[in-house]
Amino acid sequence: MTIGLFYGTNNGTTESAAEEIKAEFEKIWPGMVNLHKVGQVDITTMMDYDSLILGVPTYNIGELQDDWYFIYDKLDTLALTGCRVGIFGLGDQYGYPDTFQDGIGILGEKIRLIGGELVGFTATAGFEFSNSRGVENGQFMGLALDNDNQPDLTTARIQAWVQQLIGEFDLELVLS
Ligand SMILES: Cc1cc2nc3c(=O)[nH]c(=O)nc-3n(C[C@H](O)[C@H](O)[C@H](O)COP(=O)(O)O)c2cc1C
Repeated sequence: MTIGLFYGTNNGTTESAAEEIKAEFEKIWPGMVNLHKVGQVDITTMMDYDSLILGVPTYNIGELQDDWYFIYDKLDTLALTGCRVGIFGLGDQYGYPDTFQDGIGILGEKIRLIGGELVGFTATAGFEFSNSRGVENGQFMGLALDNDNQPDLTTARIQAWVQQLIGEFDLELVLS
């Protein structure tokens, strides 16, 4: 059981979070997470996995980061039926309070359209923003990280989310 983690980044913050998520899983099972940088990988590789983690920063006031933006239409050619997908987003709640973490929602809606099941929803408590396309029924459709304003909270948020995903990916049995 290997998890595919695909991420896009302009400035490296999402890459650091991806590496931290990988390291957190691999405290339990070394080699469990394969990292792939969107833009440098054939995106059909996503279909090789039963469980996916996708990392997406929001850019340009409510848009996907460039690497995701460029392959967004190509995602329509994939079938992720039966695949569980956890999305983590990077954003800036004070700089962009009306579009905070929109990328989680934009990518999440597409993942559902191609058959993926979104997991890893988290509470909005602890953030200040007015609007987000990444919120559904009062929860983020994944994990929200804000390294621009709350870098000291990132590690604890990642640790809690990895524990949540271990449950929602049904990994307890594999790990016991
Ligand atoms: C031009 C620009 C536009 C941005 N727009 C948004 C936005 O609409 N919503 C948001 O939550 N964050 C926004 N951000 C913040 C980035 O998502 C944040 O800085 C993130 O950590 C960058 O990730 P990266 O270092 O992996 O590229 C924006 C940043 C820049 C520079």
